[in-house]
Amino acid sequence: MAIRSDLHTEKGLATYVAGMNASQNDKARILDHVQGPAILEVGCGSGAVLELLAEAFPDAEIVGLDMAARLLGVAARVPYAGHAGRAIRLVRGDLFDPTTAGRLGGPRFNSIVFCSVLHELYSFGLLEPGKFGARTSEEGGTAAATRALQAARNMLRPGGVLVLRDGVRPESCPVTLRFKNDEIEERFYRFVDDFHCFEMDFDLDPVTRRVTLDSVGAFEFLSKYFYVQNWDVEVREQFGWADLPGLRALLENLGFTVEHATAYTLPYLQQKWDGDVEITDTNGQPTTLCTTMLARARFTGV
Ligand SMILES: C[S@@+](CC[C@H](N)C(=O)[O-])C[C@H]1O[C@@H](n2cnc3c(N)ncnc32)[C@H](O)[C@@H]1O
Repeated sequence: MAIRSDLHTEKGLATYVAGMNASQNDKARILDHVQGPAILEVGCGSGAVLELLAEAFPDAEIVGLDMAARLLGVAARVPYAGHAGRAIRLVRGDLFDPTTAGRLGGPRFNSIVFCSVLHELYSFGLLEPGKFGARTSEEGGTAAATRALQAARNMLRPGGVLVLRDGVRPESCPVTLRFKNDEIEERFYRFVDDFHCFEMDFDLDPVTRRVTLDSVGAFEFLSKYFYVQNWDVEVREQFGWADLPGLRALLENLGFTVEHATAYTLPYLQQKWDGDVEITDTNGQPTTLCTTMLARARFTGV
C-alpha cells in the first residue's frame, strides 16, 4: 500500500501529526471498550492513541503497528506513561501483508484498536478496487475494509474485542448548505472538482447561493474543507466510509458480536460548522450531521 505523500514534507508531516493529536481527547472514548493484557493498535501513526493506552493500562503489553516509518519515528518520541521497563513495541508493517500476523505473534490479542484507520483502508480499496479483486469502486472499498477486519480477527484471541473509532457515513438524504463567507463557498466548488472518491452532484440557487446535495457528499466536504495544507491527500479519502447498519453487517458477517455502536458529532467540528456554514434539511430546518462512530465487537471464536 502507498504511504500518504504529505508525510514526506516537514510541513505536511507536522500538519498530519497536529491533526491526529487535536482529537486525542475524543480518542480517549475508546478506553472504556479496551481490555488487556495484550493490546494491538493497528495504524498507530504518531502515537496519540498509544499514549492514552499506556496511561490507562499500566500493566498491559501494548503494540503499535503502522506502515509509515516516518510516523513510527514520531511515535517513538512520545513520553509514554511509565515507559521505563514497559512493554511498548512499535512495529513497521502492512496489515494486508499475510506475514504481519505471524510477526505479531498470531491470535493472541485481547483488544485490537482501529482509530481513524479504517476509512484510509476503505479509500485505498475505493481508488484501487483491482488490488482487492473488485470491479467497482464501492465494492473495492468494502473488500479492503473486510480484508482489514479479517486480518484483525486472525490476531484476536477468542473473546477478544475490536474497538473501532472513525468517520461515519450519514444516512443518504438531501441537505442544503449556505456558506457564511466567499472563501468557504469557493472551497466547496474546488472540493467537488477535486474529490476522487465519488461524484458529488449538487443544485445551486444563484439568488440565495444555497447548495442542495446528498448528505453523504456534504459530509465529505464538511469533514475536510479546513485541511488546506493536506488538501491533495484528503480529497482521495472517504472519511464517512460506513454507516452504522453497514458496519454492523460487515462485522456480523465476519463472526463478530457487536456489543456497542454509536455515532456522535465532534464538538470542535460543530463549532467550526457553526461559524462557516448553515446546514438545513428539506423543510428549511437547521440540522447537523454525525461525524464519528465508536464501536466494540467481540470475537467469540469459530
Ligand atoms: C489517520 S492515522 C491514525 C493514527 C492513530 N491511530 C491516531 O488515531 O492518532 C492512520 C494510520 O494508519 C496507517 N495505515 C494505513 N494503512 C495501513 C496498513 N495497511 N497497515 C498498517 N498501517 C496502515 C497510516 O500509516 C496512518 O499512520
